[in-house]
Amino acid sequence: MNQNNEISKLEKARIYENKMIPKIGNEVRPKFHVSSPVGWMNDPNGFSEYKGDIHLFFQYYPYATKWGAMHWGHMITRDYVKWELQPVALAPDQEYDNFGCFSGSAIEWKGKHVLAYTGVQRIENKEGAKNYQTQCIAIGDGVHYKKIGTNPVIDAKLIPKDGSKLDFRDPKIWEENGIVYMVVGNRTEDTSGQILLYKTIDLENWEFVSVLDKCNNRYGKMWECPDFFELNGYKVLILSPQEMQADKNNIHAGDGTLSMIGLFDENKKIFQEHVIMPVDIGFDFYAPQTMLGTDGRRIMIAWMQSWCDKWFDDVEGFCGMMSFPRELSIVNEILYQLPVKEIECYYKNQIVLDTFLKEEWTEFESLKGRIMNLHISLDTELSYIYELRLAANERYYTRISIDSRRNVLIFDRSYAGFRKDAVHIREVELDKNCEKYNLQILMDKYSIELFIQGGRQAFTAIIKTPIDVDGVYMRANKDIKIGIVKNDIVID
Ligand code: FRU
Repeated sequence: MNQNNEISKLEKARIYENKMIPKIGNEVRPKFHVSSPVGWMNDPNGFSEYKGDIHLFFQYYPYATKWGAMHWGHMITRDYVKWELQPVALAPDQEYDNFGCFSGSAIEWKGKHVLAYTGVQRIENKEGAKNYQTQCIAIGDGVHYKKIGTNPVIDAKLIPKDGSKLDFRDPKIWEENGIVYMVVGNRTEDTSGQILLYKTIDLENWEFVSVLDKCNNRYGKMWECPDFFELNGYKVLILSPQEMQADKNNIHAGDGTLSMIGLFDENKKIFQEHVIMPVDIGFDFYAPQTMLGTDGRRIMIAWMQSWCDKWFDDVEGFCGMMSFPRELSIVNEILYQLPVKEIECYYKNQIVLDTFLKEEWTEFESLKGRIMNLHISLDTELSYIYELRLAANERYYTRISIDSRRNVLIFDRSYAGFRKDAVHIREVELDKNCEKYNLQILMDKYSIELFIQGGRQAFTAIIKTPIDVDGVYMRANKDIKIGIVKNDIVID
């Protein structure tokens, strides 16, 4: 309660969440992916380790299954598989964040858990309404967070001259030798993105350091949700560019993700890009964020949806889920990603098959399932077309095929239950230098995360196929050999 005996926005959200969650059925909810407790969820925020727990916050509007005034929902885990809900952490309850607490990040700092987020303030005047974006800090103990009195800590005064005050968001913070750094997405006068770098020693007084990198209209427009970290001797800049045009290296049109592997120029304080590639080439992977675990692993999680379509309609009472966390590494200047190994503790009922495929569709009874992990390996020498149907029956299926003659993979969810008039098929080029085609497929009811060649490429997609459709069919136009290992994923 505040001084006028009014219930605060934060308390209201917490009470609403507690009241509504028991009413929501678990049929649609994924088994081992984070999903919205009630209402709407988008970007992962504040992914961090604090006092032994892994914390994940998220963009959250509990009151409807569509985007609204952003709160920060909160969950914790010890193994990335089983998650426990915590009370809502932030609500848009200040003048400087009256339109929403947008995306941001977290670190442990001097024993406290520090959240950095974008406060969006809506200001209306004669010319209309504008949403100004600033960077803000909240400090907490792992459950309760207090916005500091000097917020916003970075506002228009610290934005370079040609930088937008309306597109200035998604701070990612980290600490290095007692200094806290922050990268923030911003837009320049050419309407395309740039990444700004800031630093502080006390969280309250921030200094502008440099324009870390600039889009110059090469990759989309606004660059959202930047992340900047060191991995295997390189610096990596991860971005979520809006409105990209399709380009080589499997860059597809629309909002997507990019990883830039390069180095940091210490003198100029700018990033030198070397290798640029999409993080994930699928339909539903956006706003990824990483954390460095105390065990040294760099783990990434993303919103497993896109702004183009909704996962489920209002009937379910909740909408939005996260990708399964992935461990990152760099090999030959390529970013690799694989599901964190903790999932293997939940593998059950292993099936191992070594077989030859036929020209006609064959149903594989023992591979049936919607909550499972499949490893598939195929020879590359012959020229053939291999086709796999998942979540399949006579009416529905999702098709993954490999055309080895052209070295491409085709992911087709046209018959996976979608109702929107959109293109549901995507063809991607595969790495040329491989001895076998290796696929890892992680399924959790309505999602498919596909890892190609040991994580060299990843393809994430939601499906909308009824849950009782769980057939697996395969065929190939030549007599090719296939190796398959299937594990159910069983979580009590
Ligand atoms: C990315 C994004 C962020 C913003 C948030 C608002 O999906 O647009 O840039 O902070 O969502 O919910």
